[in-house]
Amino acid sequence: MMSPEYIKERVQSIIQLPALPAVAMEVVEMVDNPRTSASKLGKVISTDQALTAKVLKIANSPFYGFPRKISTIDFAIIVLGYDALKEIVISISLISSLQKKSDGLFDAKGFWDHAIATGVLARRLARDLGYRVTEEVFVGGLLHDMGVSVLHRYFKSEYRRIVEIARESELTFLEAEESVLSVTHAEVGGWLAERWNLPRHLVQAISLHHTPAKAESNHELVSLIHCADVVSCKVMKGQTEFDKGIDFDKVALARLGLNDENAVEEYIENCTSILNADFEEAVRAGGFR
Ligand SMILES: [Fe+2]
Ligand SMILES: [Fe+2]
Repeated sequence: MMSPEYIKERVQSIIQLPALPAVAMEVVEMVDNPRTSASKLGKVISTDQALTAKVLKIANSPFYGFPRKISTIDFAIIVLGYDALKEIVISISLISSLQKKSDGLFDAKGFWDHAIATGVLARRLARDLGYRVTEEVFVGGLLHDMGVSVLHRYFKSEYRRIVEIARESELTFLEAEESVLSVTHAEVGGWLAERWNLPRHLVQAISLHHTPAKAESNHELVSLIHCADVVSCKVMKGQTEFDKGIDFDKVALARLGLNDENAVEEYIENCTSILNADFEEAVRAGGFR
């Protein structure tokens, strides 16, 4: 079996720092210029269709809390704000650079839905709990499972075995990862985040999202990302097989002051109904009924 040290070395060496795509670079520069207008920025983003679709999807996520449909990129920029937009564009570009298309082992759409839902739920949870809402909470949610992409792309045969074990046995995906690689996608994602020189608290949030009690610092952020991940899995049942069987860590709940089980259940139900209402509306608007 490969040793964790070997895997770490491989993750940090084979993966060259992906150059940000030209459009993302331009967005970052424009956002830093106070004279940039939303419509100018919109024009640049619109030249990249995949990026535009993802930015609109984030702005329209039912959990983001904007009451009306956002159908233009200019409007999305106003709703999200320049700084948030910059973080979002960088994160989307980073994960996209890793990702390949779906195959029988990896569902790219499910991956993105889960990443976006977790980012938006983390932001919402932070706000609902009265923590300072910063975009790092959102970005942590967006990037938390990027280790899965790394395994799928760079450790193909091991990833295949992990998926087979998780599908055919009672083991969770994390246990299957441990049994094949002796590390999990959380650690792998953390190593990549280190390699990309992401801030220390984000590296921690990514590498400890399934073991938040191990955090020695940045408890709040680590616990928030962990809880948002679990809420996102419970709300969007069965979207991602790599989070099979995950549940709340009691220490993380306690660190966020979420000691009342019923209140947590109610929160999840509330999120589920927000999602369902949005889905119903989409079905009606699309004339499917
Ligand atoms: Fe995960
Ligand atoms: Fe996850």
